[in-house]
Amino acid sequence: MKVTVVGAGAVGASCAEYIAIKNFASEVVLVDIKEGFAEGKAMDLMQTASLNGFDTRITGVTGDYSKTANSDVCVITSGIPRKPGMTREELIGINAGIVKDVSANLVKHSPNTILIIVSNPMDTMAYLAHKTSGLEKNKIIGMGGALDSARFKYRLAEALGAPISDVDGMVIGGHSDTGMVPLTRMATRNSIPMTKFLSEERLEQVKEDTKVGGATLTKLLGTSAWYAPGAAVSAMVQAIACDQKKMFPCSALLEGEYGMDDISIGVPVILGKNGIEKIVEIELTDAEKNHIKESSEGVRKTNGLLEL
Ligand SMILES: NC(=O)c1ccc[n+]([C@@H]2O[C@H](COP(=O)([O-])OP(=O)(O)OC[C@H]3O[C@@H](n4cnc5c(N)ncnc54)[C@H](O)[C@@H]3O)[C@@H](O)[C@H]2O)c1
Repeated sequence: MKVTVVGAGAVGASCAEYIAIKNFASEVVLVDIKEGFAEGKAMDLMQTASLNGFDTRITGVTGDYSKTANSDVCVITSGIPRKPGMTREELIGINAGIVKDVSANLVKHSPNTILIIVSNPMDTMAYLAHKTSGLEKNKIIGMGGALDSARFKYRLAEALGAPISDVDGMVIGGHSDTGMVPLTRMATRNSIPMTKFLSEERLEQVKEDTKVGGATLTKLLGTSAWYAPGAAVSAMVQAIACDQKKMFPCSALLEGEYGMDDISIGVPVILGKNGIEKIVEIELTDAEKNHIKESSEGVRKTNGLLEL
């Protein structure tokens, strides 16, 4: 199992570290455009191997895609992150060009790869990859819902005063401050509906805190977060590498599912060795349907800014 991670910055390095620590991949190649940066990050990470007990070989290269050849999974984290006060959508001008170039380079050397898109605005960057990379639709997966759901579970556990392992929940929809749809109605504590434990007002607060989860961290850190994003990507890579058939909400190209067409947006999917093995359709209430429709309109508006 060979994994390439493009962008050796905060998210890319965190993702490489978690993949290595979980010890399921033989090789991780980090790629960056900044001279020596990926090589440095790879060397630093390799010097944790004897301490953290992993055998994954991490190497770094500056822009040399021949070293990424025959990667099973490629992750794109290259591009600029947001600064406090910015929306993810504002990053499109710079990141669209980067994602288009990087995905073309990756596919040239790994024509059968599965691509995970992380760079923001993620749903639109995944759509761009669908339109330009030539890969089949099951092989392009946007990472957003896995992270947003982890943030949702954190907020639910906080509201309950319970350990996170007690709670389950999922966030679908667009990966944006307004577009996320945390499914509070379906969230549970040990299979008991969350509504048995939390008032409607408290659940609404959890929902709002989840939606601005990224912006809250950007304000505190001065840049966007990296530990949970890296962990979310590594869990998705592991599900594919180990053919786990695990369910995550991911940005997937829809062709009629959820009544939508020609859009990549967050829906529950099964991840396995073929990438997206199945899109899972769940019954939504009218309010949830309206919310996801609004969310899709936001994503389409950003998609409209792409020069395809
Ligand atoms: N989808 C999500 O849930 C999620 C979560 C967090 C961050 N992000 C996004 O991920 C991206 C990366 O965030 P970060 O915090 O790691 O940023 P960062 O600035 O720390 O790292 C980005 C790296 O990309 C590199 N890069 C830029 N252009 C490149 C190119 N053409 N080829 C190769 N490398 C290139 C830069 O040199 C830099 O090292 C941002 O767009 C951010 O918004 C997405």
